[in-house]
Amino acid sequence: MSKCKILVIFLISVLLAVSACQNSTVDNNRATVNSNQTSTASKEIPNRKWWKEAVVYQIYPRSFKDTNGDGVGDLRGIIEKLDYIKSLGIDVVWLNPIFASPNDDMGYDVSDYQAIMKEFGTMEDFDELLKGMHERKIKVVLDLVANHSSDEHRWFQESRKSRDNPYRDYYHWWPAEKGKPAARRSFFDVEGDAWQYDAPSNSYYLHIFSDKQPDLNWENPKVRQEMYSMIKFWFDKGVDGFRMDVIPFISKDTSFPEMPAEMNGDWGKFYRSGPRLHEYIQEMNREVLSKYDIMTVGEIGATPEEAHLFVDEDRNELNMLYHFEGVDFGYVPGGKKMIDPKGWSLVKFKEIYSKWSDNFEQKGWGTIYLGNHDQPRMVTRWGNDAPEFRELSSKMLSTFLMTMRATPYYYFGDELAMNNIKFERIEDYKDIESINWYKGIEKEGGDLKSFMESQKIAARDNGRTPFQWDNTTNGGFTTGTPWLKVNPNHETVNVTAQEKDQNSPLNYFRKLTSLRKAEPVLVYGKYTLIDKENENVYAYTRELNGKKLLILLNFKAVESSVNSGFDLAKSKVLLGNYPTPSLDGKLKPYEAVVLELTN
Ligand code: NOJ
Repeated sequence: MSKCKILVIFLISVLLAVSACQNSTVDNNRATVNSNQTSTASKEIPNRKWWKEAVVYQIYPRSFKDTNGDGVGDLRGIIEKLDYIKSLGIDVVWLNPIFASPNDDMGYDVSDYQAIMKEFGTMEDFDELLKGMHERKIKVVLDLVANHSSDEHRWFQESRKSRDNPYRDYYHWWPAEKGKPAARRSFFDVEGDAWQYDAPSNSYYLHIFSDKQPDLNWENPKVRQEMYSMIKFWFDKGVDGFRMDVIPFISKDTSFPEMPAEMNGDWGKFYRSGPRLHEYIQEMNREVLSKYDIMTVGEIGATPEEAHLFVDEDRNELNMLYHFEGVDFGYVPGGKKMIDPKGWSLVKFKEIYSKWSDNFEQKGWGTIYLGNHDQPRMVTRWGNDAPEFRELSSKMLSTFLMTMRATPYYYFGDELAMNNIKFERIEDYKDIESINWYKGIEKEGGDLKSFMESQKIAARDNGRTPFQWDNTTNGGFTTGTPWLKVNPNHETVNVTAQEKDQNSPLNYFRKLTSLRKAEPVLVYGKYTLIDKENENVYAYTRELNGKKLLILLNFKAVESSVNSGFDLAKSKVLLGNYPTPSLDGKLKPYEAVVLELTN
């Protein structure tokens, strides 16, 4: 071979290598999580993924930071606080819906999927926010509301005009001359009826949520294509994933039969058992999700067995889902989140979380959360918000979330140990769920007093009160009138105060995120529950490649013994929520300790 030919071959090889390198960096403006760690240690740990190693921080934009004084949080508020967000040591931010919406259900009623909600700002603000996050190596996940749109969406405005409108089949309609269709339940309707009569076309339309949230008809291929191209639009901008709102509800038997007897009246189960559900999700995966290095998490009230159908890798559907078994427990069955007067048992709590952890030991991957925008504050619900225990029990719960074998979804404000506001009057609530449930009970002549008491623990607005930045009026959230009252305890519970205190919940949370980063055993290690029947203490080990950690959590306000079976005196303390961690088998009230076992 001539020298010239060798040179040409050499140059072509160099060019090919460079281009392969560029392609493998799927999208170089996307943030990376733990990329160094992943590449070096992936040899020892199979199946590593950035979204398994990430800590997701959920921001409810409406309540985070208002910069224009209208009392509603906005995207510029998030931009202003990017360094604070970075300082938490989290990897992914999930934003609740930011798309155009009349806010009947606070953004879960979208009127334009490719425009930003006016109160939140503009597309330019969003682009700046995304850039700012990526510059700080934080990924951004948006909320996909695919089961329904707003009734103010252009598609619905057209659809309702007449039976032969080209958008008619974008929604589910039932001609009134056929009589009323078989019952479907609406979660937000005062009477619980999901069929709304609409005069212009003398028909009923379906709305599993409010009558301003008509269900989209996924049977119609055009609807599916609209959805995929919208998802693509956001991925092409650089968005790193979607949380998929009530995703199993998208498939329905559109002949609308009576609910089959084998469902035993379980509406949740019925709505997640649509005949073409997995076909649709697989199609979405094939047409759009699989083409990007993104993460997906579905809101899916599945059983552990059903969960595998959504998240096992060979199913080509979603990466993760979050279930409701953990957060729904402790309510009386019946749907309106009435607190069980018997309380809840820690043994049962442990059983639920252990079952879900074990469920994904071989296949699939789990999530863990105790708070989100549909839940009350975790410290009130699962800890103790009395002044002497609020911080301690909140740190203990954070320790739980950050040491389990699942991707933690951590709700904004929990790092400050924010607690429920506990409104006395229905007029203080802004959430359609609380307001319409109240109206429904009132109409039936039910027990409003018990309902209002339960709402102090369970209402969604408890988790939506504005973020507490400082001790000034409205906690530094807004200079105007906040859309929802700020918790009066912002005078002491706020970021400014906690920044100055090394032992604050905020600084404790930062220690937890760095511990999780430093210890892959906390992400991938085998989980083993110990002292199972202990009614006060949750204890478990995590073990990976010869390294073993022991986590001890006292869920009660009294000193509690734990029988770990290990000689704790020989262990190394990695973190604890008391200045001197207990190593004698007796834990102080709400004590949390993370130990490395050396015996
Ligand atoms: C689940 C969301 O998390 C909740 O906030 C919303 O009200 C319903 N889906 C309807 O979209």
